[in-house]
Amino acid sequence: MLKERILESSFGYAVWSAPVKQAKVDAIKKMLQKCGIGENKVLDIGCGPGTNAEMFEGWDYLGVDLNPQYTEKAKIKFQGKRFICGDATRLELDGEKFPVILINSLMHHLNDQECAQLLEGIKPLLTEKGSVIVQEPLTPAPNQHLMRFLMKHDRGAYFRPLNEWQSLFEKCGLKIASDDFYVLKMAGITGWQMYSVLLEPDR
Ligand SMILES: C[S@@+](CC[C@H](N)C(=O)[O-])C[C@H]1O[C@@H](n2cnc3c(N)ncnc32)[C@H](O)[C@@H]1O
Repeated sequence: MLKERILESSFGYAVWSAPVKQAKVDAIKKMLQKCGIGENKVLDIGCGPGTNAEMFEGWDYLGVDLNPQYTEKAKIKFQGKRFICGDATRLELDGEKFPVILINSLMHHLNDQECAQLLEGIKPLLTEKGSVIVQEPLTPAPNQHLMRFLMKHDRGAYFRPLNEWQSLFEKCGLKIASDDFYVLKMAGITGWQMYSVLLEPDR
């Protein structure tokens, strides 16, 4: 489909996501302040064309995405940052560990089993006090007709209500250390309600 082809190009995705980028960045920064990180190092899973890379200026940054068009362009655009093409549900990172793992708007592309594989797979990648920051959209309410229409046509087929997100995290032994909500706006129109959450493994 034409829409998929446009969004799968780095430029197409950057244009599409530009109106909502800042709100997500602000929410991630808020969670970063709560992490108490010792080392500025982050693993950004489902990093797209490097949407979040700019915010990690001066950090040791590794972005992973399934789409090689995104990771190849990101390598050129963000010199000094690392990007690899790979599947979030089967990460192989040679024992490297991270104090922060960011999952921004990836899991609504994954079914429950894939989410569980991802969440179980990242636990060994966290440093001793490491945290996971997740940003995901919530299923729109039944009377949000426009958003429900857009949800049906989104590339991600797994929007979830709050209790389902929370239960996915809990089943995988990740406890909610902090959470928050915000709304994405496009051209002044209220869009997705987002769930922002800071997770820590049961220690
Ligand atoms: C909505 S985009 C979010 C991109 C970026 N994190 C952002 O916030 O702009 C979802 C991203 O997840 C990637 N993705 C989907 N399934 C994946 C998988 N199994 N492994 C790694 N990346 C995946 C897509 O290629 C896409 O870049």
